[in-house]
Amino acid sequence: MEVKTKVCALEQCDEEAIVLFFSEDAPKIEEMYRGIDALFNGALGSMLSSKDFRGEKDELKVIYNGRRSKVKYLILTGMGKRDKQSYLTLQNQVAGALRKARELKVKSIALSSIKLPVDMAEQVGKILTFAAYLTLYRNTTFKSKKNDMPEIEKVSLIVAKDNEKLVNQGVQYATTVGEAVNLTRDVVNTPANIAHTDFMAEYAQKIARQNGLKCTIFEDKQLKKMGMNCILAVGMGSLHKPKLVMVEYNGGRKGDKPVVLVGKGIVFDTGGYSLKTAAFGQNYMLNMKDDKAGATITLHAVAAAAKLKLPLNVIGIFPLAENMVSAESYRVDDIYKAYNGAMVEVRNTDAEGRLVLADALAYACQKNPKAIIDLATLTGAALYAIGNFAVPIMGNNEALIEKVRRASDASLERVWAFPLWDEYLEPLKSDIADLKNVTDAGDAGSIIGGIFLKQFVKDDIPWCHVDIAIPTFSTQEKGVNTKGATGFGMRLVMETLVGFSKGK
Ligand code: BES
Ligand code: ZN
Ligand code: ZN
Repeated sequence: MEVKTKVCALEQCDEEAIVLFFSEDAPKIEEMYRGIDALFNGALGSMLSSKDFRGEKDELKVIYNGRRSKVKYLILTGMGKRDKQSYLTLQNQVAGALRKARELKVKSIALSSIKLPVDMAEQVGKILTFAAYLTLYRNTTFKSKKNDMPEIEKVSLIVAKDNEKLVNQGVQYATTVGEAVNLTRDVVNTPANIAHTDFMAEYAQKIARQNGLKCTIFEDKQLKKMGMNCILAVGMGSLHKPKLVMVEYNGGRKGDKPVVLVGKGIVFDTGGYSLKTAAFGQNYMLNMKDDKAGATITLHAVAAAAKLKLPLNVIGIFPLAENMVSAESYRVDDIYKAYNGAMVEVRNTDAEGRLVLADALAYACQKNPKAIIDLATLTGAALYAIGNFAVPIMGNNEALIEKVRRASDASLERVWAFPLWDEYLEPLKSDIADLKNVTDAGDAGSIIGGIFLKQFVKDDIPWCHVDIAIPTFSTQEKGVNTKGATGFGMRLVMETLVGFSKGK
Protein backbone atom coordinates (compact mmCIF):
# COMPACT_ATOMS: atom_id res chain seq x y z
CA MET A 1 0.00 0.00 0.00
CA GLU A 2 1.06 3.53 -0.65
CA VAL A 3 -0.16 6.85 0.77
CA LYS A 4 0.44 9.98 -1.32
CA THR A 5 -0.67 13.58 -1.36
CA LYS A 6 -2.36 14.95 -4.42
CA VAL A 7 -3.48 18.44 -5.41
CA CYS A 8 -6.60 18.33 -7.56
CA ALA A 9 -10.31 19.08 -7.61
CA LEU A 10 -12.42 16.24 -6.27
CA GLU A 11 -14.14 15.68 -9.60
CA GLN A 12 -10.74 15.10 -11.19
CA CYS A 13 -9.94 12.16 -8.90
CA ASP A 14 -9.42 8.83 -10.60
CA GLU A 15 -9.65 6.81 -7.39
CA GLU A 16 -12.52 4.32 -7.11
CA ALA A 17 -13.86 5.93 -3.95
CA ILE A 18 -13.69 9.34 -2.30
CA VAL A 19 -14.17 9.85 1.42
CA LEU A 20 -15.83 13.14 2.41
CA PHE A 21 -15.96 14.42 5.98
CA PHE A 22 -18.92 16.37 7.37
CA SER A 23 -19.60 18.02 10.69
CA GLU A 24 -22.98 17.63 12.31
CA ASP A 25 -23.51 21.39 12.62
CA ALA A 26 -23.47 22.12 8.92
CA PRO A 27 -23.47 19.19 6.55
CA LYS A 28 -24.11 21.33 3.53
CA ILE A 29 -22.95 21.19 -0.01
CA GLU A 30 -20.10 23.61 -0.41
CA GLU A 31 -18.54 24.99 -3.53
CA MET A 32 -15.80 22.40 -3.70
CA TYR A 33 -18.37 19.59 -3.83
CA ARG A 34 -20.36 20.96 -6.80
CA GLY A 35 -18.30 19.18 -9.45
CA ILE A 36 -18.36 15.80 -7.73
CA ASP A 37 -22.07 16.22 -7.00
CA ALA A 38 -22.70 16.72 -10.72
CA LEU A 39 -20.72 13.54 -11.47
CA PHE A 40 -23.07 11.74 -9.08
CA ASN A 41 -26.21 13.27 -10.64
CA GLY A 42 -26.89 15.47 -7.62
CA ALA A 43 -27.09 12.50 -5.27
CA LEU A 44 -24.76 14.08 -2.74
CA GLY A 45 -26.79 17.29 -2.60
CA SER A 46 -30.05 15.45 -2.09
CA MET A 47 -28.54 13.16 0.54
CA LEU A 48 -27.54 16.21 2.56
CA SER A 49 -30.64 18.35 2.01
CA SER A 50 -33.00 15.45 2.75
CA LYS A 51 -31.12 14.91 6.04
CA ASP A 52 -30.63 11.24 5.18
CA PHE A 53 -27.08 12.00 6.20
CA ARG A 54 -26.57 14.37 9.13
CA GLY A 55 -22.85 14.20 9.84
CA GLU A 56 -23.40 12.61 13.25
CA LYS A 57 -20.38 10.97 14.83
CA ASP A 58 -19.83 7.44 13.49
CA GLU A 59 -22.37 7.97 10.72
CA LEU A 60 -21.31 6.35 7.46
CA LYS A 61 -23.18 6.45 4.15
CA VAL A 62 -22.15 5.23 0.73
CA ILE A 63 -23.39 6.72 -2.53
CA TYR A 64 -22.96 4.56 -5.59
CA ASN A 65 -22.52 6.03 -9.03
CA GLY A 66 -24.54 4.24 -11.67
CA ARG A 67 -22.84 6.15 -14.42
CA ARG A 68 -19.59 4.86 -15.76
CA SER A 69 -17.21 7.31 -14.15
CA LYS A 70 -13.95 6.30 -12.53
CA VAL A 71 -15.16 7.30 -9.08
CA LYS A 72 -17.69 4.64 -8.14
CA TYR A 73 -18.38 5.49 -4.54
CA LEU A 74 -18.66 8.51 -2.33
CA ILE A 75 -18.23 7.55 1.29
CA LEU A 76 -19.67 10.17 3.66
CA THR A 77 -18.40 10.13 7.21
CA GLY A 78 -19.87 12.03 10.12
CA MET A 79 -17.50 13.86 12.42
CA GLY A 80 -20.13 14.91 14.96
CA LYS A 81 -20.51 18.37 16.49
CA ARG A 82 -17.61 20.67 15.75
CA ASP A 83 -16.77 21.54 19.37
CA LYS A 84 -16.54 17.84 20.27
CA GLN A 85 -14.23 16.85 17.43
CA SER A 86 -10.66 15.76 18.02
CA TYR A 87 -7.85 14.13 16.10
CA LEU A 88 -8.98 10.89 17.67
CA THR A 89 -12.43 11.37 16.07
CA LEU A 90 -10.74 11.87 12.72
CA GLN A 91 -8.58 8.77 13.14
CA ASN A 92 -11.58 6.62 14.03
CA GLN A 93 -13.78 7.98 11.25
CA VAL A 94 -11.07 7.34 8.66
CA ALA A 95 -10.63 3.83 10.03
CA GLY A 96 -14.37 3.19 9.60
CA ALA A 97 -14.40 4.58 6.05
CA LEU A 98 -11.37 2.54 5.00
CA ARG A 99 -12.86 -0.64 6.37
CA LYS A 100 -16.04 0.06 4.44
CA ALA A 101 -14.06 0.75 1.27
CA ARG A 102 -12.18 -2.51 1.55
CA GLU A 103 -15.48 -4.31 1.97
CA LEU A 104 -16.59 -2.66 -1.27
CA LYS A 105 -13.47 -4.17 -2.88
CA VAL A 106 -12.09 -0.77 -3.74
CA LYS A 107 -8.40 -0.75 -4.73
CA SER A 108 -7.77 2.98 -4.69
CA ILE A 109 -9.27 5.65 -2.47
CA ALA A 110 -9.04 9.40 -2.02
CA LEU A 111 -9.47 11.19 1.31
CA SER A 112 -10.63 14.75 0.94
CA SER A 113 -8.70 17.20 3.10
CA ILE A 114 -8.93 20.27 0.92
CA LYS A 115 -10.34 22.62 3.54
CA LEU A 116 -7.66 21.89 6.09
CA PRO A 117 -6.24 24.82 8.14
CA VAL A 118 -2.46 25.13 7.70
CA ASP A 119 -1.66 24.70 11.40
CA MET A 120 -3.25 21.25 11.31
CA ALA A 121 -1.75 20.09 8.02
CA GLU A 122 1.19 18.02 9.20
CA GLN A 123 -0.73 16.36 12.03
CA VAL A 124 -3.64 15.50 9.74
CA GLY A 125 -1.17 14.05 7.20
CA LYS A 126 0.17 11.85 9.98
CA ILE A 127 -3.21 10.75 11.24
CA LEU A 128 -4.68 9.88 7.86
CA THR A 129 -1.57 7.89 6.99
CA PHE A 130 -1.48 6.08 10.33
CA ALA A 131 -5.17 5.31 9.99
CA ALA A 132 -4.47 3.69 6.61
CA TYR A 133 -1.47 1.64 7.76
CA LEU A 134 -2.99 0.53 11.03
CA THR A 135 -6.57 -0.21 9.94
CA LEU A 136 -5.66 -2.04 6.76
CA TYR A 137 -3.07 -4.27 8.44
CA ARG A 138 -3.62 -7.94 7.79
CA ASN A 139 -1.56 -10.97 8.67
CA THR A 140 -2.10 -13.99 6.42
CA THR A 141 1.23 -15.66 7.23
CA PHE A 142 -0.50 -18.52 8.95
CA LYS A 143 -3.42 -18.98 6.55
CA SER A 144 -2.87 -21.91 4.24
CA LYS A 145 -5.27 -20.45 1.70
CA LYS A 146 -4.54 -16.81 0.98
CA ASN A 147 -7.81 -16.59 -1.01
CA ASP A 148 -7.04 -13.25 -2.65
CA MET A 149 -8.72 -10.97 -0.18
CA PRO A 150 -9.07 -7.56 -1.79
CA GLU A 151 -6.58 -4.94 -0.61
CA ILE A 152 -6.54 -1.19 -0.96
CA GLU A 153 -3.34 -0.43 -2.84
CA LYS A 154 -3.41 3.32 -3.12
CA VAL A 155 -4.55 6.01 -0.69
CA SER A 156 -4.48 9.60 -1.96
CA LEU A 157 -4.80 12.58 0.33
CA ILE A 158 -6.43 15.36 -1.66
CA VAL A 159 -4.99 18.62 -0.37
CA ALA A 160 -4.83 22.28 -1.27
CA LYS A 161 -1.56 23.43 -2.83
CA ASP A 162 -0.69 25.54 0.24
CA ASN A 163 -0.80 22.53 2.51
CA GLU A 164 0.85 19.97 0.31
CA LYS A 165 4.34 20.26 1.75
CA LEU A 166 3.26 20.03 5.38
CA VAL A 167 0.81 17.19 4.82
CA ASN A 168 3.50 15.37 2.93
CA GLN A 169 5.90 15.70 5.87
CA GLY A 170 3.29 14.02 8.00
CA VAL A 171 2.80 11.28 5.40
CA GLN A 172 6.53 10.53 5.20
CA TYR A 173 6.88 10.29 8.97
CA ALA A 174 3.77 8.16 9.43
CA THR A 175 4.73 5.85 6.58
CA THR A 176 8.00 4.98 8.30
CA VAL A 177 6.46 4.70 11.75
CA GLY A 178 3.31 2.95 10.44
CA GLU A 179 5.46 0.32 8.77
CA ALA A 180 7.37 -0.09 12.04
CA VAL A 181 4.06 -0.61 13.86
CA ASN A 182 3.02 -3.29 11.38
CA LEU A 183 6.36 -5.12 11.43
CA THR A 184 6.01 -5.12 15.22
CA ARG A 185 2.52 -6.59 14.93
CA ASP A 186 3.81 -9.33 12.62
CA VAL A 187 6.39 -10.38 15.19
CA VAL A 188 4.09 -10.10 18.21
CA ASN A 189 1.43 -12.14 16.38
CA THR A 190 3.98 -14.89 15.75
CA PRO A 191 3.57 -17.61 18.40
CA ALA A 192 6.37 -18.85 20.62
CA ASN A 193 6.81 -22.18 18.84
CA ILE A 194 8.28 -20.04 16.04
CA ALA A 195 9.23 -16.73 17.68
CA HIS A 196 11.34 -18.17 20.50
CA THR A 197 14.34 -16.41 21.96
CA ASP A 198 16.76 -17.69 19.27
CA PHE A 199 14.40 -16.51 16.54
CA MET A 200 14.05 -13.09 18.16
CA ALA A 201 17.82 -12.63 18.41
CA GLU A 202 18.32 -13.60 14.77
CA TYR A 203 15.47 -11.34 13.76
CA ALA A 204 17.07 -8.46 15.65
CA GLN A 205 20.32 -9.06 13.78
CA LYS A 206 18.47 -8.98 10.48
CA ILE A 207 16.68 -5.72 11.27
CA ALA A 208 19.93 -4.21 12.55
CA ARG A 209 21.73 -5.18 9.34
CA GLN A 210 18.98 -3.68 7.19
CA ASN A 211 19.12 -0.39 9.05
CA GLY A 212 22.81 0.01 9.71
CA LEU A 213 22.51 -0.52 13.47
CA LYS A 214 25.13 -2.03 15.68
CA CYS A 215 23.76 -5.21 17.28
CA THR A 216 25.16 -7.06 20.28
CA ILE A 217 23.73 -10.29 21.60
CA PHE A 218 24.62 -11.54 25.05
CA GLU A 219 24.02 -15.29 25.25
CA ASP A 220 23.21 -17.07 28.52
CA LYS A 221 26.86 -17.92 29.24
CA GLN A 222 27.82 -14.24 29.04
CA LEU A 223 24.80 -13.25 31.12
CA LYS A 224 26.08 -15.61 33.80
CA LYS A 225 29.50 -13.98 33.78
CA MET A 226 27.99 -10.51 33.86
CA GLY A 227 25.73 -11.35 36.80
CA MET A 228 22.38 -10.96 35.05
CA ASN A 229 20.92 -13.60 37.30
CA CYS A 230 17.33 -12.38 37.15
CA ILE A 231 17.10 -12.74 33.35
CA LEU A 232 18.70 -16.18 33.67
CA ALA A 233 16.30 -17.23 36.43
CA VAL A 234 13.21 -16.37 34.39
CA GLY A 235 14.49 -18.07 31.24
CA MET A 236 16.02 -21.23 32.73
CA GLY A 237 12.95 -23.41 32.32
CA SER A 238 12.87 -23.09 28.54
CA LEU A 239 14.65 -25.08 25.84
CA HIS A 240 15.42 -21.74 24.20
CA LYS A 241 17.87 -20.01 26.45
CA PRO A 242 17.52 -16.41 27.64
CA LYS A 243 19.48 -13.60 26.02
CA LEU A 244 19.97 -9.87 26.13
CA VAL A 245 20.00 -7.88 22.89
CA MET A 246 21.33 -4.37 22.37
CA VAL A 247 20.92 -2.34 19.16
CA GLU A 248 22.52 1.06 18.66
CA TYR A 249 21.83 3.92 16.29
CA ASN A 250 24.26 6.83 16.26
CA GLY A 251 22.51 9.70 14.54
CA GLY A 252 23.67 12.28 17.05
CA ARG A 253 27.09 13.75 17.66
CA LYS A 254 29.81 11.58 19.08
CA GLY A 255 29.61 11.87 22.84
CA ASP A 256 25.95 12.95 22.88
CA LYS A 257 24.23 11.03 25.65
CA PRO A 258 21.92 8.40 24.18
CA VAL A 259 18.24 7.93 24.81
CA VAL A 260 17.93 4.31 25.92
CA LEU A 261 14.79 2.30 25.23
CA VAL A 262 14.30 -0.88 27.22
CA GLY A 263 11.66 -3.47 26.30
CA LYS A 264 10.24 -6.54 28.01
CA GLY A 265 10.80 -9.57 25.81
CA ILE A 266 9.03 -12.58 27.29
CA VAL A 267 8.37 -14.70 24.20
CA PHE A 268 5.73 -16.61 26.15
CA ASP A 269 4.46 -16.20 29.68
CA THR A 270 2.90 -19.32 31.19
CA GLY A 271 3.38 -17.76 34.61
CA GLY A 272 5.96 -20.43 35.45
CA TYR A 273 5.26 -22.42 38.64
CA SER A 274 2.86 -19.63 39.64
CA LEU A 275 1.02 -20.96 36.64
CA LYS A 276 -1.60 -18.91 34.84
CA THR A 277 -4.94 -20.66 34.52
CA ALA A 278 -5.84 -21.82 31.04
CA ALA A 279 -9.37 -22.91 31.92
CA PHE A 280 -12.23 -22.26 29.56
CA GLY A 281 -13.85 -18.94 30.23
CA GLN A 282 -10.95 -17.55 32.25
CA ASN A 283 -7.93 -18.36 30.20
CA TYR A 284 -5.27 -15.93 31.39
CA MET A 285 -2.52 -17.73 29.48
CA LEU A 286 -4.08 -17.16 26.10
CA ASN A 287 -2.37 -14.54 23.93
CA MET A 288 0.70 -14.46 26.19
CA LYS A 289 2.81 -14.53 23.03
CA ASP A 290 2.19 -10.77 23.22
CA ASP A 291 4.51 -10.50 26.24
CA LYS A 292 7.37 -9.66 23.87
CA ALA A 293 5.68 -6.51 22.55
CA GLY A 294 7.92 -4.12 24.50
CA ALA A 295 11.07 -5.74 23.11
CA THR A 296 9.75 -5.75 19.56
CA ILE A 297 8.72 -2.10 19.72
CA THR A 298 12.14 -1.23 21.12
CA LEU A 299 13.88 -2.93 18.20
CA HIS A 300 11.71 -1.37 15.52
CA ALA A 301 11.74 2.06 17.17
CA VAL A 302 15.55 2.19 16.96
CA ALA A 303 15.32 1.05 13.33
CA ALA A 304 12.67 3.71 12.59
CA ALA A 305 14.83 6.39 14.25
CA ALA A 306 17.58 5.39 11.81
CA LYS A 307 15.19 5.46 8.83
CA LEU A 308 14.01 8.93 9.83
CA LYS A 309 17.65 9.96 10.34
CA LEU A 310 16.81 11.53 13.71
CA PRO A 311 19.80 13.54 14.96
CA LEU A 312 20.02 11.47 18.14
CA ASN A 313 21.91 8.58 19.62
CA VAL A 314 19.44 5.85 20.51
CA ILE A 315 20.10 2.50 22.15
CA GLY A 316 17.57 -0.31 22.41
CA ILE A 317 18.07 -2.96 25.07
CA PHE A 318 15.80 -5.95 25.50
CA PRO A 319 15.99 -9.14 27.52
CA LEU A 320 14.54 -12.25 25.88
CA ALA A 321 13.28 -15.19 27.92
CA GLU A 322 10.48 -17.72 27.95
CA ASN A 323 8.67 -18.21 31.25
CA MET A 324 8.06 -21.96 31.32
CA VAL A 325 7.63 -24.88 33.70
CA SER A 326 10.32 -27.57 33.84
CA ALA A 327 12.84 -29.17 36.18
CA GLU A 328 15.17 -26.25 35.53
CA SER A 329 12.63 -23.50 36.08
CA TYR A 330 12.98 -21.01 38.87
CA ARG A 331 10.64 -21.38 41.81
CA VAL A 332 8.90 -19.22 44.35
CA ASP A 333 11.14 -18.64 47.41
CA ASP A 334 14.24 -18.57 45.19
CA ILE A 335 16.61 -15.67 45.78
CA TYR A 336 18.72 -14.14 43.00
CA LYS A 337 21.34 -11.43 42.93
CA ALA A 338 20.42 -8.86 40.27
CA TYR A 339 22.93 -7.13 38.02
CA ASN A 340 23.07 -4.10 40.35
CA GLY A 341 23.77 -6.31 43.36
CA ALA A 342 20.29 -6.22 44.90
CA MET A 343 19.08 -9.53 46.34
CA VAL A 344 15.61 -10.39 45.08
CA GLU A 345 13.26 -12.95 46.58
CA VAL A 346 10.85 -14.51 44.09
CA ARG A 347 7.40 -14.75 45.61
CA ASN A 348 5.54 -15.22 42.35
CA THR A 349 7.11 -16.56 39.17
CA ASP A 350 4.41 -14.84 37.11
CA ALA A 351 5.83 -11.43 38.04
CA GLU A 352 8.74 -12.22 35.73
CA GLY A 353 8.71 -9.05 33.65
CA ARG A 354 10.04 -6.88 36.47
CA LEU A 355 12.82 -9.43 37.05
CA VAL A 356 14.17 -9.41 33.50
CA LEU A 357 13.76 -5.63 33.38
CA ALA A 358 15.61 -5.24 36.68
CA ASP A 359 18.80 -6.54 35.07
CA ALA A 360 18.17 -4.73 31.79
CA LEU A 361 17.50 -1.36 33.46
CA ALA A 362 20.57 -1.65 35.67
CA TYR A 363 22.60 -2.40 32.56
CA ALA A 364 21.00 0.53 30.69
CA CYS A 365 22.18 2.88 33.46
CA GLN A 366 25.76 2.10 32.49
CA LYS A 367 25.26 3.59 29.02
CA ASN A 368 25.43 7.17 30.33
CA PRO A 369 21.87 7.78 29.17
CA LYS A 370 20.12 11.12 28.77
CA ALA A 371 16.93 9.23 29.60
CA ILE A 372 15.65 5.67 29.87
CA ILE A 373 12.18 4.74 28.69
CA ASP A 374 10.96 1.22 29.23
CA LEU A 375 7.98 -0.42 27.56
CA ALA A 376 6.54 -3.50 29.15
CA THR A 377 3.41 -5.63 29.16
CA LEU A 378 3.86 -5.65 32.91
CA THR A 379 0.57 -5.81 34.78
CA GLY A 380 -2.96 -7.00 34.15
CA ALA A 381 -3.87 -4.70 37.05
CA ALA A 382 -3.61 -1.72 34.67
CA LEU A 383 -7.04 -2.74 33.34
CA TYR A 384 -8.64 -2.26 36.76
CA ALA A 385 -6.73 0.92 37.44
CA ILE A 386 -7.49 2.81 34.27
CA GLY A 387 -9.20 0.59 31.69
CA ASN A 388 -8.28 0.37 28.05
CA PHE A 389 -8.38 4.08 27.18
CA ALA A 390 -4.94 5.01 28.47
CA VAL A 391 -1.83 3.30 29.79
CA PRO A 392 -0.09 4.01 33.10
CA ILE A 393 3.25 5.76 32.97
CA MET A 394 5.47 6.45 35.96
CA GLY A 395 9.01 7.48 36.64
CA ASN A 396 11.53 9.46 38.63
CA ASN A 397 11.64 12.71 36.69
CA GLU A 398 8.77 15.13 36.11
CA ALA A 399 10.33 16.70 33.00
CA LEU A 400 10.61 13.32 31.29
CA ILE A 401 7.05 12.39 32.26
CA GLU A 402 5.92 15.70 30.76
CA LYS A 403 7.81 14.92 27.57
CA VAL A 404 6.11 11.56 27.26
CA ARG A 405 2.76 13.24 27.96
CA ARG A 406 3.31 15.68 25.10
CA ALA A 407 4.28 12.79 22.84
CA SER A 408 1.07 11.11 23.90
CA ASP A 409 -1.00 14.11 22.78
CA ALA A 410 0.72 14.10 19.40
CA SER A 411 0.60 10.33 18.87
CA LEU A 412 -2.99 9.74 20.09
CA GLU A 413 -1.66 6.94 22.30
CA ARG A 414 -3.00 8.02 25.66
CA VAL A 415 -0.99 7.86 28.87
CA TRP A 416 -1.75 8.78 32.47
CA ALA A 417 0.91 9.34 35.12
CA PHE A 418 0.72 7.26 38.31
CA PRO A 419 2.62 8.20 41.50
CA LEU A 420 5.69 6.35 42.76
CA TRP A 421 5.66 7.51 46.37
CA ASP A 422 8.16 5.88 48.72
CA GLU A 423 5.30 4.38 50.73
CA TYR A 424 4.64 1.96 47.89
CA LEU A 425 8.06 0.39 48.47
CA GLU A 426 7.31 -0.72 52.03
CA PRO A 427 5.31 -3.84 51.14
CA LEU A 428 8.03 -4.96 48.70
CA LYS A 429 10.64 -5.29 51.44
CA SER A 430 11.67 -8.90 51.89
CA ASP A 431 12.12 -10.60 55.28
CA ILE A 432 15.07 -12.60 54.07
CA ALA A 433 16.50 -10.68 51.10
CA ASP A 434 16.37 -7.02 49.98
CA LEU A 435 13.28 -7.00 47.84
CA LYS A 436 10.52 -9.36 46.90
CA ASN A 437 9.02 -9.31 43.43
CA VAL A 438 5.37 -9.05 44.59
CA THR A 439 3.61 -7.78 47.69
CA ASP A 440 1.47 -9.99 49.90
CA ALA A 441 -1.67 -7.90 49.45
CA GLY A 442 -1.58 -7.19 45.74
CA ASP A 443 -2.99 -3.65 45.96
CA ALA A 444 -1.94 -1.07 43.37
CA GLY A 445 -0.47 -3.72 41.10
CA SER A 446 0.75 -1.43 38.32
CA ILE A 447 2.42 1.01 40.71
CA ILE A 448 4.04 -1.83 42.64
CA GLY A 449 5.51 -3.09 39.36
CA GLY A 450 6.80 0.42 38.68
CA ILE A 451 8.34 1.00 42.11
CA PHE A 452 10.06 -2.37 41.88
CA LEU A 453 11.68 -1.28 38.60
CA LYS A 454 12.66 2.06 40.13
CA GLN A 455 15.05 0.22 42.48
CA PHE A 456 17.20 -0.69 39.50
CA VAL A 457 17.52 2.78 37.99
CA LYS A 458 20.01 5.33 39.30
CA ASP A 459 18.15 8.28 40.85
CA ASP A 460 19.97 10.86 38.74
CA ILE A 461 19.00 9.23 35.44
CA PRO A 462 15.59 10.35 34.14
CA TRP A 463 13.49 7.22 33.66
CA CYS A 464 9.92 6.57 32.56
CA HIS A 465 8.12 3.23 32.63
CA VAL A 466 5.23 2.65 30.22
CA ASP A 467 2.96 -0.28 31.10
CA ILE A 468 1.44 -1.39 27.78
CA ALA A 469 -0.08 -4.69 29.01
CA ILE A 470 -3.68 -3.86 28.19
CA PRO A 471 -3.80 -2.24 24.73
CA THR A 472 -1.03 -4.44 23.29
CA PHE A 473 -3.48 -7.04 22.09
CA SER A 474 -6.98 -6.41 20.80
CA THR A 475 -9.76 -8.97 20.79
CA GLN A 476 -11.92 -6.82 18.53
CA GLU A 477 -11.72 -4.70 15.39
CA LYS A 478 -12.16 -1.21 16.73
CA GLY A 479 -10.84 2.17 15.61
CA VAL A 480 -7.51 1.52 13.95
CA ASN A 481 -7.06 -1.77 15.80
CA THR A 482 -7.44 -5.13 14.15
CA LYS A 483 -7.71 -8.36 16.12
CA GLY A 484 -4.37 -9.37 17.61
CA ALA A 485 -1.24 -7.32 18.19
CA THR A 486 -1.70 -3.55 17.96
CA GLY A 487 1.85 -2.23 18.24
CA PHE A 488 0.60 0.23 20.88
CA GLY A 489 3.50 2.30 22.19
CA MET A 490 5.45 2.65 18.95
CA ARG A 491 3.87 5.96 17.99
CA LEU A 492 4.30 7.23 21.55
CA VAL A 493 7.97 6.33 21.66
CA MET A 494 8.68 7.75 18.21
CA GLU A 495 7.04 11.07 19.10
CA THR A 496 9.10 11.10 22.29
CA LEU A 497 12.27 10.57 20.26
CA VAL A 498 11.23 13.34 17.86
CA GLY A 499 10.73 15.57 20.92
CA PHE A 500 14.25 14.74 22.09
CA SER A 501 15.68 15.45 18.65
CA LYS A 502 14.06 18.89 18.67
CA GLY A 503 15.30 19.50 22.19
CA LYS A 504 11.68 19.71 23.39
N1 BES B 1 2.61 -10.59 31.19
C1 BES B 1 1.87 -10.41 32.38
C2 BES B 1 1.01 -9.16 32.36
C3 BES B 1 -0.12 -9.13 31.37
C4 BES B 1 -1.40 -9.43 31.78
C5 BES B 1 0.09 -8.75 30.07
C6 BES B 1 -2.44 -9.36 30.89
C7 BES B 1 -0.95 -8.69 29.17
C8 BES B 1 -2.23 -8.99 29.59
C9 BES B 1 2.81 -10.31 33.58
O1 BES B 1 4.00 -11.00 33.51
C10 BES B 1 2.07 -10.87 34.76
O2 BES B 1 1.78 -12.02 34.74
N2 BES B 1 1.77 -10.01 35.73
C11 BES B 1 1.05 -10.40 36.88
C12 BES B 1 1.69 -9.72 38.06
C13 BES B 1 1.26 -10.27 39.37
C14 BES B 1 1.75 -11.68 39.56
C15 BES B 1 1.80 -9.38 40.47
C16 BES B 1 -0.40 -9.96 36.71
O3 BES B 1 -0.64 -8.94 36.09
O4 BES B 1 -1.27 -10.68 37.17
ZN1 ZN C 1 3.79 -13.04 34.17
ZN1 ZN D 1 4.69 -11.33 31.57
